[in-house]
Amino acid sequence: MATSGLYPQTKVLSRSFDVKDGHTLAVARERGAYQALEKALKMTPAQLVDEVKKSRLRGRGGAGFPTGMKWSFVAKNTGKPTYLVLNADESEPGTFKDRYLMERDPHLVLEGCLITAWAIGASTIFVYIRGEYPRSIARMEKAMEEARAAGLVGKDILGSGFSCEAWVHPGAGAYICGEETGLLESIEGKRGHPRIKPPFPAVEGVFRCPTIINNVETLSHVPWIVLHGGDAFAKQGIAPDPANPRSNGTCGTKLMGVSGQVRTPGVWEFEPGITLRELVYGYGGGPLPGRKIKAVIPGGISMPVLLDHELDAKMGFDELVKAGSGLGTACAIVMDDSCDMVDASVNIAHFFAHESCGQCTPCREGCHWMEKVLHRIADGDGQPSDLDLLEGMFKSIEGRTICALADAAVWPVRSIVRKFRAEFLARMQPAPAPAGA
Ligand SMILES: Cc1cc2nc3c(=O)[nH]c(=O)nc-3n(C[C@H](O)[C@H](O)[C@H](O)COP(=O)(O)O)c2cc1C
Ligand code: SF4
Repeated sequence: MATSGLYPQTKVLSRSFDVKDGHTLAVARERGAYQALEKALKMTPAQLVDEVKKSRLRGRGGAGFPTGMKWSFVAKNTGKPTYLVLNADESEPGTFKDRYLMERDPHLVLEGCLITAWAIGASTIFVYIRGEYPRSIARMEKAMEEARAAGLVGKDILGSGFSCEAWVHPGAGAYICGEETGLLESIEGKRGHPRIKPPFPAVEGVFRCPTIINNVETLSHVPWIVLHGGDAFAKQGIAPDPANPRSNGTCGTKLMGVSGQVRTPGVWEFEPGITLRELVYGYGGGPLPGRKIKAVIPGGISMPVLLDHELDAKMGFDELVKAGSGLGTACAIVMDDSCDMVDASVNIAHFFAHESCGQCTPCREGCHWMEKVLHRIADGDGQPSDLDLLEGMFKSIEGRTICALADAAVWPVRSIVRKFRAEFLARMQPAPAPAGA
């Protein structure tokens, strides 16, 4: 429902978020759940993949890869089973959108998975949920149990001849298990160490079998696309940039969140087109009384910060890259003028150093060195040459590792060091001599 003066919300994925018992099969079915599955099972897998390609749906896990294209890469006729894995690790700091879907509308999530499984030829779905989300785990398990009893999961679903099982696999709470191949290792019972790609999971994934892995929000869009058609989805949101043949736009609707130093943190759903400013000031309620906004990371913690005067960029994949950042998870983290940016950079660097799996030298050593140097500056023992040292580290880390965790460590820290250079230099000045000395 539009709130006067604000960019309007469009409730598609979130339409049952506030409905009493919306997580139960009875209420979900009254509200249309599993109608799309019924329709999808009368379509061929190839038709479904085509429809999702037409929709221009892009992955909502952070990287924005076109979903239909990913599905079309799944290896066929391998003689091995094909798996669908739902990435419900939601380990990105400041991000809590997938949790809303799993807790408030788990049947939508499950329906999206079942349709996807049919489209890619999978007969097993693993839903990998972070261990710190006990309610999401319980709601998804209950939804599977209800759906199994109603003939929506298991053998011969809705009399279609299609059989598919679904299981929850709880994680143990490691950021790196959100990275798709780290997650696959974890499902296999090993340490969450990302794999070198290629081979990509669509060819060799979990248990070395063809696997499609998608984010919770990504697959929750699939039932709407089946019911309304890919073209209708592609018409919503931000169209591809005609001047850029590689642009895919930001179509459909998108869950977006705000957390940090704002009055009203939360999650909302929009047709992309809303600016970061409208999101943070309008829906997030703006800064706390007497404060000013200093820096915003548009999505999670892994993107460069934007300053208050840079917030007019639209919340779209291409638009935020043009603005010098990225959409990431579209859940913005807001820092106000009480936030010390040197301390913030130490905090961010500490997180990544702690979460590095340690396989790649630039990440294992680089993240720790970055943290150490930033700590030194925060403690007042830094020198201006430390800023050059940090720039050298950014270069030695970025783009040189197995997975993107190391890049994700560099991007926010580098943007803070560059945009708040004066704060770093001020921290290096010798403290004034005590009075009377
Ligand atoms: C360090 C790291 C952590 C990640 N964590 C998550 C996560 O918690 N949830 C998620 O969906 N994707 C996460 N991703 C992205 C996944 O690797 C992958 O791109 C995504 O699950 C693909 O699904 P999508 O195409 O539907 O977005 C992470 C990536 C990296 C490098
Ligand atoms: S980049 Fe870091 S987290 Fe990723 S595989 Fe290498 S060491 Fe592990």
